[in-house]
Amino acid sequence: MNLEALLSARLAPAFAQVAQAAVDPAVRRSRHADYQSGAALPLAGPLGRSPRDIAAGVLAAADLTGLATAEVSGPGFLNLRLTDEAIAAGAGELAGDDRLGVPRTPRPERVVVDYSSPNIAKELTVGHLRSTVIGDAVVRLLEWRGHDVVRANHLGDWGTAFGMLIEHLGPDDAASITDLTAFYQAARSRFDADADFRTRARLRVVALQGGDERSLRQWRHFVAASQRHLLAAYDRLGVTLGPGDFLGESFYQDQLASVVAELTAQGLLRESEGALCAFPPGFTGRGGDPLPLIVRKSDGGFGYAATDLAALRYRTGDLGATRLLYVVGSPQRTHFAMVYAVAAAAGWLPEGVRAEHVAFGSILGSDGRMFRTRSGESVKLAAVLDEAVDRAAALAPSAEVARAVGVGAVKYADLSGDRMSDYVFDWDRMLALTGNTGPYLQYAYARTRAILRKAQTAPGPVLITAPAERALALELLGFAPVAAGLDESLELHRLAGYLHGLAQTFSAFFEACPVLTAPPGIRQSRLALCDLTGRTLRQGLELLGIDTPERL
Ligand code: ARG
Repeated sequence: MNLEALLSARLAPAFAQVAQAAVDPAVRRSRHADYQSGAALPLAGPLGRSPRDIAAGVLAAADLTGLATAEVSGPGFLNLRLTDEAIAAGAGELAGDDRLGVPRTPRPERVVVDYSSPNIAKELTVGHLRSTVIGDAVVRLLEWRGHDVVRANHLGDWGTAFGMLIEHLGPDDAASITDLTAFYQAARSRFDADADFRTRARLRVVALQGGDERSLRQWRHFVAASQRHLLAAYDRLGVTLGPGDFLGESFYQDQLASVVAELTAQGLLRESEGALCAFPPGFTGRGGDPLPLIVRKSDGGFGYAATDLAALRYRTGDLGATRLLYVVGSPQRTHFAMVYAVAAAAGWLPEGVRAEHVAFGSILGSDGRMFRTRSGESVKLAAVLDEAVDRAAALAPSAEVARAVGVGAVKYADLSGDRMSDYVFDWDRMLALTGNTGPYLQYAYARTRAILRKAQTAPGPVLITAPAERALALELLGFAPVAAGLDESLELHRLAGYLHGLAQTFSAFFEACPVLTAPPGIRQSRLALCDLTGRTLRQGLELLGIDTPERL
């Protein structure tokens, strides 16, 4: 039972009667009451009546029997207070529902989520953390809601860097490389310092792209070595990307010529300084010149934009997806906007098919600049996770739990803020046992489990006998509207904020309401509230990709 929906359903006919038109009652949780409807306010103009007057009319016409009491407040809000019976019945229903009141979506879609997508032959750095963690939470959420999700790890596995890497490797086997970053850096400095090497590297790219078998073999070894490294990192992060989800830039190589042909046939490409470019309307550079999307470079090679166009066409065409999500940092906003514009013009994004850039801000160091090591290098992801687990060892009873707490803290810190904002990477804050942190939520979960272990009785029907029980049950009923609202907005921080609020409400309940020593009926009811809190925290954290140890 979604109480928000129930209240809406009861208010809607009253609004319709007063307004003589369909009105969304816009019922929301509120600080001033259990729920509030502000729908009378915007009706004032059209109806030529005061909002308070309209709200009073709605109140008189609404049948809220058994569900809630209401009053007009402030400029014309309807403040709604649920009856204890409605809350108890709602919580009772949740107890028997393994989806905790969150329905499957009525409109399942095939959704391609492009995430993580590092440029390979380099080790993962914290720079890859956000796309990987946010993308994975998005995938978990959409799958749980019943969508058909395709994970697309759009690896940067093709391009000029491989010429340099293969030349530097020589006849050796890439499998022998233990430190990819060091290897990459060595190749890079040789490339920068040695003109002869540079020439050979460039020729090697041409050979590779031309299908030279020996070059391809070496390239495959590189890709395989990188994939092994990535899979180990994903495993450690608890991210659901597997070996079957690699769909890198190289995958689209034999589709690029036909992308160019199709765009050309539609008159969407123009030559500019030797390159073939699209100029989608509305995109201008500095000085107001039309901005090109370079589809084929002047040397005949294909770059990032060409691959993205091919990937998009493949995702909507071959895979039949109706929603494409690109979990990529904000700096690529213009790139994606241009790719979507060109794809739409080419007919690869037909009516009803959406492409969205799920953008996010940067991770900053304590100095407020990009998060880097003291010597100015990118911070390796593995090093961050090592340190997180080390630090979490102080909070955890075992190595396994330290892993869950440390990794969870890093992920939660990334997911709990509005993803568009930058955030400062701060160990003390993310590992704090109080506040909106991973450890705080994991601790609240473990506490619910401890009580249930100690109780000899099974949970029973929910009774409302104290304000803290009422508050907790009401909070539990808030999970459904929050979770169900996410698949459109993809605002994961709202889920995190909800879970934090739930943990706080649980904590207040726990202080005010003894569980194990309460008289039998009340004890079983309170156990049911503990159990529901634990299940909601576990489900919510699982959607965010965060483990919930049973003991902490
Ligand atoms: N490899 C790119 C980078 O590291 C990100 C790829 C994002 N996905 C895409 N389809 N372009 O910046």
